[in-house]
Amino acid sequence: MREVVHYSALTFGAGESRLIGEIFWILVAAGALIWIMFVALKFYALHGNPAGESARKRARIYLIGGGVIFPVIMVTISIILTLRPLPQLLARAPSGSLTIHVSGLQWWWRVRYEVGGKMVETANEIYLPVNRPANFELSSEDVIHSFWIPSLAGKMDMIPGRKTHLSFTPRKTGTYVGNCAEYCGASHALMRLEVKVVEEKEFEDWLRNLSSGAVPGNHPGERAFAISGCTSCHAVRGVFPGGELGPDLTNFGSRRILGAGAMRNDLEKLHRWIKDPKSHKPGVKMPGFKNLPEEELMSIAEWLGGLR
Ligand code: CUA
Repeated sequence: MREVVHYSALTFGAGESRLIGEIFWILVAAGALIWIMFVALKFYALHGNPAGESARKRARIYLIGGGVIFPVIMVTISIILTLRPLPQLLARAPSGSLTIHVSGLQWWWRVRYEVGGKMVETANEIYLPVNRPANFELSSEDVIHSFWIPSLAGKMDMIPGRKTHLSFTPRKTGTYVGNCAEYCGASHALMRLEVKVVEEKEFEDWLRNLSSGAVPGNHPGERAFAISGCTSCHAVRGVFPGGELGPDLTNFGSRRILGAGAMRNDLEKLHRWIKDPKSHKPGVKMPGFKNLPEEELMSIAEWLGGLR
């Protein structure tokens, strides 16, 4: 069965996104109504019989009514409508809710959970338990990004040197796509985030598995990964800790996308990605490994694909 993935700001996986969606529909309806009124008036002007002294008087009423009073009323209503839910949308989640630290980088997301006083890291993927308030602590490590999961909440800027916050409570399980909503350089459009809203038990299992890390083995890909220098940027906790410049790859094989949405995550695409990432994602900082023999590239891809 094909997995349903929610992209749209008009699909509501949380009360917070519903609040924003409702304002959208009210404004669309008001806009449609004004358009109909305008067209009707235009027909009247073309086909009615507006001449003489009384027509001039009526024109003045239209100008003052339609050009001053009506817009002032409409703009005031829309300001009230859009400001009213802000306190709720910007409120901090209650204490005891799940805190997730997310920072934006060109062009991927560093994701950290607090587990037993320690930070456990992953990248470009967030798991959330359904019906539990989630509190996001947001920051940036380079330029300004914007954190946006359209079906779950509004946007929040990620600003270097500052912490911003966003809270929402996911109400429906499923996969939700997030994107960076502030232009941040060449691959701004390839800065995708996947949010999986799951049952509490599944979340606990996922987090336990993530925090326990990977286990060293004797896969040739594991050796090739270290010898080729991948470990100076990427961490695979439990096997190669330390690399912080690039995304943490501890559970890489279980992710649906690679390169923050540059490609689907499968063996053949991962092989192509390691060989020449720049041809799939402009400006990406990861160097290509065209110099490696094909079988070595393949064994690295196989090993990474097996990390779950
Ligand atoms: Cu990050 Cu646009």
